[in-house]
Amino acid sequence: MTQTYNLFINGQFVPAESGETFESINPYNGESIARFARGGKADIHKAVQAARVAFDEGPWPRMSGEERGQYIRALGEKISDSSKALLPLEVADSGSTIRKVQGDLWLSSNQLKYFSKLASRTMERQLEDLSKPGVSNNYTVREPIGVCGQIIPWNFPLMMAIWKLGPALAAGCTLVLKPAEETPVSAMELAKMIAEIGIPPGVVNIVTGFGEEAGAPLVNHPDVDKIAFTGSTEIGRKIMCDASAGMKRVTLECGGKSANIILEDADPEIAIDGSLYGAFFHAGQCCTAGTRLLLPESKKDEYLERLVEKARQIRLGDPMDKGTDMGPLVSKKQQERVLGYIDKGKAEGAKVLVGGGRPTGAETENGFFVEPTIFGDVDNSMTIAQEEIFGPVLSVITYKTEADAVRIANESMYGLAGAVWSRDTDRAVNMAKQLRTGTVWINEYHLVSERAPFGGYKQSGLGRELGPESLHEYTEIKHIHVDELGSREKKFWYDTVVKPGNLVKS
Ligand code: NAI
Ligand code: MG
Repeated sequence: MTQTYNLFINGQFVPAESGETFESINPYNGESIARFARGGKADIHKAVQAARVAFDEGPWPRMSGEERGQYIRALGEKISDSSKALLPLEVADSGSTIRKVQGDLWLSSNQLKYFSKLASRTMERQLEDLSKPGVSNNYTVREPIGVCGQIIPWNFPLMMAIWKLGPALAAGCTLVLKPAEETPVSAMELAKMIAEIGIPPGVVNIVTGFGEEAGAPLVNHPDVDKIAFTGSTEIGRKIMCDASAGMKRVTLECGGKSANIILEDADPEIAIDGSLYGAFFHAGQCCTAGTRLLLPESKKDEYLERLVEKARQIRLGDPMDKGTDMGPLVSKKQQERVLGYIDKGKAEGAKVLVGGGRPTGAETENGFFVEPTIFGDVDNSMTIAQEEIFGPVLSVITYKTEADAVRIANESMYGLAGAVWSRDTDRAVNMAKQLRTGTVWINEYHLVSERAPFGGYKQSGLGRELGPESLHEYTEIKHIHVDELGSREKKFWYDTVVKPGNLVKS
């Protein structure tokens, strides 16, 4: 019998009101890893009510930031202490390689340490030069937004939960988190840790379930003040519309089609490995994936030969095996989606240089694998250059001049990230400034730091996660004006309104 995980609402583990459950599948072998309560509208309502009471009446928003920070730090330590048990669960649930999940756990724990420090930041700012028209003391206070609905995807299950919970908790918000239906296990393990360290009931509620059934009611619930979402641009747009009814605050982290630009003077050794990492890390299931490789025409053949050669050496297999470079995709649906894009690329005239289908062999036969695939002869207007594929598919586009490269890179509805490879930093920075994206790496890829803001331009999203900016996304700003004149006659309105003979007639 596999284990069944319940919902986490108001500090209690409870089944769904409907009594229904669903299973999560191990993408490597198709076996069920556990069952989860199938949360719906009624469960979301209970969870939102718990978060509402915890915010309006509970201790969480009222305690000091330092105190909240201690809980957040304890959660980070708990993740680190539990990493041995979490590791195989997260690998089995998501199909991520053990090497990747080790990194995720370490990063999640560290990120919580950072958020615990953010919690004790001063939330007040003195305003200067506001002495006219009256002598006064002016300052702003950042206050927690309130109840947050947080919806996350399956590519970095635990880490996405931390990016959402961390800044919300630091700011003093309460929340309802909905993990992706494909990968709910680490969020429910996190719920156990939250209960153990004694974060007050109702502050964090976690409801597993599907997008339409649990996600949409959360977005539409009138008692929710803010929605934070990571996932597809399509659902991001829908969430923005749905949230407009209550004018909820929204942060969105959506798709990407990042350009990875190699300049003529790049160091090929680093640029080749970095580009393969940028495109194929986690089988390309990263919003920042460098899926459009822009090569200078003069060096195209030299680069392609080595890229293809190295792509062939990527080892696909059991994600629990430390020797595995690339695991399966998260689901059969995602595998089919990616294979569909590969077919489209072929049909539109791009040339498969390596890969291009499902791998063969015993190691991969029961998993949702797709071969690392590189397309040459890609035009930036093709579907495979414009749409987010979220699989191991790299489109190579050539450019003549650097201005050309910038134009191609920016010809996208997305603007999440990208990279420039060059031995000349000034040249690379100059190009970075022309790219319409939220992050540009120079001679690096995928390096996300908890101290730096992360998010997208254009249809890659709205708002920023991580860095001090993340805390701002969970606060409202209040201006407090304290009069220091003390005298009625000196008020700026005295002459016009109150002066005897000049009183406003009611
Ligand atoms: P999705 O956007 O449908 O799912 C992401 C989350 O949103 C899940 O928790 C899902 O349950 C929830 N959701 C779905 N419909 C909803 C609704 N109507 N209201 C509220 N919540 C809803 O993404 P999906 O279907 O898993 O993947 C499709 C594509 O999205 C991928 O191929 C990829 O291109 C992109 N994607 C991008 C991610 C990123 O990190 N930016 C992460 C995951 C997917
Ligand atoms: Mg979906």
